[in-house]
Amino acid sequence: MDALAAATAVRDAAKRSTQLFRDGLPMIASENIISPRVAEMLVTDFHGRYAEGLPGKRYYQGCGDFDTVEALGMELARGVFRCAFANIQSTSGTVSNLAVLKSLTKPGDAITAVSTADGGHISHAPMGAVGMRGLELHTYPWDHDNMHPDVDGAAKLVRSVKPKLVLFGQSMFLFPTPMKDIVAAAKEVGAVVMYDGAHVLGLIGGGQFQDPLREGADVLTGSSHKTFPGPQGGFVFSDSKDEKFQRRLHSGVFPGVVSSYHLHHVAAKVVALAEFQQFGARYAKDTVANAQAFGAALAECGFDVLAADRGFTKSHQIVTRHGAQDSGAGAKAAATLEACGIITNMNMLPGDTKPLTPSGVRIGVQELTRVGMGKAEMEQVADFYRRGLLANEDPAKVKRDVKAFKARFQEVKYCFNEAKLGGYEFFELAQKTPSLAKFS
Ligand SMILES: Cc1ncc(COP(=O)(O)O)c(C=O)c1O
Repeated sequence: MDALAAATAVRDAAKRSTQLFRDGLPMIASENIISPRVAEMLVTDFHGRYAEGLPGKRYYQGCGDFDTVEALGMELARGVFRCAFANIQSTSGTVSNLAVLKSLTKPGDAITAVSTADGGHISHAPMGAVGMRGLELHTYPWDHDNMHPDVDGAAKLVRSVKPKLVLFGQSMFLFPTPMKDIVAAAKEVGAVVMYDGAHVLGLIGGGQFQDPLREGADVLTGSSHKTFPGPQGGFVFSDSKDEKFQRRLHSGVFPGVVSSYHLHHVAAKVVALAEFQQFGARYAKDTVANAQAFGAALAECGFDVLAADRGFTKSHQIVTRHGAQDSGAGAKAAATLEACGIITNMNMLPGDTKPLTPSGVRIGVQELTRVGMGKAEMEQVADFYRRGLLANEDPAKVKRDVKAFKARFQEVKYCFNEAKLGGYEFFELAQKTPSLAKFS
C-alpha cells in the first residue's frame, strides 16, 4: 500500500469505528465516552509539548500555561477523591501501578494480590508490572460464592508471608473488597496497602463503592477512562500527609515510568475532573442502579447472571455464564452479541482455565448510563440480548433494531453544555474540519 493510501485507510477505519459505537451498544466494562469539552482538549497544542517535573518546577521552558492546568487538576483531584495527595500524570492504570510498585517495593520483595483467574489484573501478575519489578507474588485464597478474597485465608497469608505490599482490586469487580481484617494483618507486618481502583474509580469518587483511602489503603491507583469518564490515562492518590512518602509517589511516576506524559490527555483529565466534581455523584449513583436493573432484567429473560442472590452487583459490571467451564460459550456469546451490534467481552469465570475459551461474558453499563439510559432502557437492552442469544433471531435484524434504539441516545450527559453536541458527533466533526479536508 502506498503511503497516502495507508494514511487514508487509518482515517477510514477511525470513521467506521466511530460509526460502530455510535450505532451500537458499547458495553465493555473498561470503556466510556468522553464529553465534547473533554474531547476538545485532545486536539490542542498541548499534544505536542513536554512538561517534565511538577507545576512550577520544570526542566523545560514554555510550561507556564500547562502549570496552571496541572495545578488546577491536582487540586480538583484531591477534592473529588477526598485526599491529601494526587498525581495526575500517569498515562494509564497500568502505568500508575508500575509507578507505585517502583516507589514502594524493591526487586525480590513479596507482595499479595488477587490472582488473574479470580479477576485480578495482568499488571498484578508475573507476566505484567509485578513481574517487571521482580516481585514475588502470593495470591489470596478466594471466596467464590462472594467473589472477593477469603478474608480469614487472606489475613493468614499476609501474616505468614509478611509482604512488603498488600494489593487489592480486580478487573472483574462486582463487590467491594472486605478490607478491614486483611488491612489489620498488613499493618501488623508493616506492609503498605495499595488499592487498584482502575474499574471502579468513578464509583469511588462518586461515593457509590467502598472508599479505600478511608478503609486503610495507603495508595489508590486507577484509570481515568472507565467509570471515571475522562480521556485514557491514570491517577495516583494517597491521603498520607508525609511529604517524603508523597515525593516517593511523585518520583515513581516521573522520572520512574514517564517522561512525556501526554499533556493533552492531562488537560482533558482536568476538564473531566471539573465535570466530575459537579456531576460525578449523580452519574455514579445512576450507573450502579442501572447495573442492578440490567442484572435483574437479564435474569428475568432467563440468563444465568452471577451473584443473583446478592443483587447481581454493587458496581457497574454484570457477569453472565453461557455454558460449561472451558466450553468457549462466553466467546461465542460475545461474538453473537457483536453481530447484533452489542459490544462486550468474553471473560473467565470461576472454574475456567483457558482465557480464550471461557464460559462468561463481562458487561458494563457505564457508557449507556452516560448517554442517558435509565432503568426502562436497561430492560430494552436485556431484550436485545434475549433476542440475539436465547431466541436466536437473525443478528442482522437485531442489529437494525439496536441502531434505531440507540439513535435516541447520542448525547453525553453528566457534563457541561450537555445536549449541545453529540459525544460521537464530536469526532465526526473533527474529521470534517477544513484543515483535514484540504489533505483529502
Ligand atoms: C484492575 C485493573 N487495573 C489496571 C488496569 C489497567 O488499566 P489501563 O488499561 O488504564 O492501563 C485494568 C484494566 O482494565 C484493571 O482492570
